[in-house]
Formats: sequence, structure tokens, C-alpha cells
Amino acid sequence: EPETIVKHLNLYFSERKLQPLKGKKYLITAGPTREAIDPVRYVTNHSSGKMGYALAEQAAEQGAEVTLITGPVSLTPPSKVKVIHVESAADMYDAVFEQYDTSDVVIMTAAVADYKPKFYHAQKMKKQPGENVIEFERTKDILKELGENKTHQILVGFAAETNNVEEYARGKLAKKKADMIVANNVTVAGAGFGTDTNIVTIFNKDGRATDLPKMSKADIAKSILSEVSRMQKE
Ligand code: PMT
Repeated sequence: EPETIVKHLNLYFSERKLQPLKGKKYLITAGPTREAIDPVRYVTNHSSGKMGYALAEQAAEQGAEVTLITGPVSLTPPSKVKVIHVESAADMYDAVFEQYDTSDVVIMTAAVADYKPKFYHAQKMKKQPGENVIEFERTKDILKELGENKTHQILVGFAAETNNVEEYARGKLAKKKADMIVANNVTVAGAGFGTDTNIVTIFNKDGRATDLPKMSKADIAKSILSEVSRMQKE
């Protein structure tokens, strides 16, 4: 019946409009990592997970199949999202690569430690008189390895900077073979760690830069996702 066909077509198009990411697999990382010194101490950073969780929530809202790999945070994960909890940068590396082949889009929002203590002390380090020195070594650069092993994925990285934001963001775009870098100056009020808002510039691999005004992390997430969708259509 033509009427039934029209009805189904209308339903199909309204669903596509509401769920533009249906059929796509999104892998999103969030939060900090913890690099253990001994059983009671670790090194970490100020990430609350809000930016990554907002991205996961919005992508799921728009119909994507979302896997959220999260460092330790105190947020409740969004519903309809598969959650994998990790602690260290090494755990995050393993979890991300386990999902990479089957992902269409990867967004590295997590504040992954660049360094970890070189030696893990199995027993609590006791206080000693005088100074103490902890040696650090580099962790693996997950985003860089994702870029080097890209097959079909769209790869989005973040850049958390305190100065020379554009220069460092464009540098990351090239060095990590990312398709997009979302840069935030974490020293600006209302941007970066812990806040409910963010102020970002999106740098695309084609050279385009889009400045977004201060918005809620949910709205920033929506803008990032529409930029990704636009890229997928190109
Ligand atoms: O969690 P919130 O409190 O909401 O704060 C949000 C945020 C500030 C954490 C977020 O907006 C942000 O900027 N995330 C990236 C933090 C970061 O580690 O930036 P970076 O410039 O050091 O790293 C660049 C990119 O490489 C990031 O995509 C990071 O995930 C990735 N990386 C970093 C180190 C490493 N060993 N492996 C990585 O993959």
C-alpha cells in the first residue's frame, strides 16, 4: 500500500534525524589515570571525567553504540553505554586497543598520564630523613599508536594546554595522525578540568579551526559529534 510505504519512509527519516549516529560504533575515553608508587600512593591529574562522559551520553542519545573506557571518577555512567573501568595508562592502552578494530570513531578525552613511576614498591615506602626522589618513565602514547595503526577509524584527540594552544594543538594533529584535535586552555575560567562548561577550538586535519564559545560540556559534546559526522560524510 502506498500509504503504508509513505508512513514507513516518514518513520525511517524521523528516526534518522533523531538518531543520526545509528549503526556507528564510538569508543570514548574519559577521566584521569592513576600511576601507582606503592600500595597506598599514586600520581594522577585533575580530570573529573565530565567531558568524556558528556560525549558518551550524547553519542548514545544520537543512536551510536558507545563503549566508554574510564579512569577512576565519581560520576555515574550514562545509561545505554558499555563501560570499561581502568586505572593506569597501561590498562587504558590495553582496553582501547582491544576495541580499536571494531570502532568507527575513537575520541580520546581521557587525561592519560605521560609518565609513571619507574619502580613500583610492593610495600608501603617508609618515611626517611631528608629528601626523596622518585624516578619516572614515559607511558605509551595511546593516541599516537592509534594514529599509526588507523585503518578506517576517525580519530579525535584532545589537547589540554596552558599556553601556545594553537601551535601545540596543530602539532598534535600532525604528530598523532589524528583527524581532529579539540583544544582547551585549562587555565581559563570555565574551561578544562572539573567544570560543567568548556571553551574549545576544534582543529581539523584539513586545516580548519572552529572556535566554540563557553558552553556546557553537553553542548560542546554535541558540536564535536556534528563535526565528526560532517567529516564522515566528506
Ligand atoms: O575530565 P574533565 O574534568 O571534564 O576535564 C576535561 C579535560 C580537560 C580532561 C579534557 O577536555 C581534555 O583536555 N582531555 C585531554 C587531556 C590530556 O591528556 O591532554 P594532552 O594534551 O596531555 O594529551 C593529548 C591527547 O593524547 C589526548 O587526547 C590524550 O587522551 C592522549 N594521550 C595522552 C597521553 C598518553 N600517554 N596517551 C594518550 O593517548
